[in-house]
Amino acid sequence: MTTEAMRTVALPTEEEIPALGQGTWHLGEDPTRRSQEIAALRLGLDLGMTVVDTAEMYGDGASEELVGEAIEGRREEVFLVSKVLPGHADRKGTVSACEGSLRRLRTDQLDLYLLHWRGRHPLDETLAGFIDLVAAGKIRHWGVSNLDVADLIELTALPGGDAVAVDQVLYNLARRGIEWNLLPWCRESGVAVMAYSPIEQGRLLEDEALQDVALDLGATPAQVALAWVLEQEVAAIPRSGRPDHVRENRGAADLRLPPEVLTVLDAAFPPPSEPLPLEVL
Ligand SMILES: NC(=O)c1ccc[n+]([C@@H]2O[C@H](COP(=O)([O-])OP(=O)(O)OC[C@H]3O[C@@H](n4cnc5c(N)ncnc54)[C@H](OP(=O)(O)O)[C@@H]3O)[C@@H](O)[C@H]2O)c1
Repeated sequence: MTTEAMRTVALPTEEEIPALGQGTWHLGEDPTRRSQEIAALRLGLDLGMTVVDTAEMYGDGASEELVGEAIEGRREEVFLVSKVLPGHADRKGTVSACEGSLRRLRTDQLDLYLLHWRGRHPLDETLAGFIDLVAAGKIRHWGVSNLDVADLIELTALPGGDAVAVDQVLYNLARRGIEWNLLPWCRESGVAVMAYSPIEQGRLLEDEALQDVALDLGATPAQVALAWVLEQEVAAIPRSGRPDHVRENRGAADLRLPPEVLTVLDAAFPPPSEPLPLEVL
């Protein structure tokens, strides 16, 4: 497989971001794995997986610190994403949580800042914090995570709420519920969708139907699972602390799934036939 230019996904501002990025949940928590995890993240950047997703929640800041070290001297290459915990997400708390993330990440600006999930603070409070952060140049874009259509409708009805750039949600072959209405709504509204746990935290790789498809294509199950997400024009942020897995995952962006393969995958992993509440992990 040759390495082609990385596919992209458009934000509402028409800025394009790499469709395949890197997650970081649980990275930075084990000191014995630190140098390998940093090498994995840096290799991902070398290969064009320059969307790096982290959160103040991950390892209580340890993941952001690891990312800060990994991207040292390479900040300009990275589309850096972090998230505010719902409990911090009133107007002032959002601003100070972001400042904490910026310190740990050793940078002065995030490319995208997300509300991790909806909590007790009203959405207009979080939105006011995001607007303050944009005005101060501390974030370029803002968005949400784990919000279903009703929440997005409420958010986009608020003054300034229609600037929401991204909804980051659970989406993979085994979790297709968003295809019923969230994904169409986002497409219609221009909100980019970013799939978390795109290989179902590794569990999908054991699936026999997926393994058979991968064998036929001369690819690996992880590559097929990720390529399938990208076929839906959804961004994916697989996490790996291993350089060999990062290299393998990068191959997914060059893998095209022909219609007959998509049909086989639809039979093994059926799309939703009724509305389902948004699943979360
Ligand atoms: N917004 C939210 O609420 C939310 C929730 C969950 C996740 N996320 C974000 O999404 C990212 C991805 O989700 P995730 O970490 O839950 O799960 P994931 O990316 O679906 O799976 C990660 C697991 O798969 C393994 N893996 C990765 N590539 C592999 C390969 N090619 N072959 C075999 N195993 C492979 C990793 O282990 P190795 O390290 O050994 O490769 C790790 O155990 C997170 O890291 C986080 O940034 C966001």
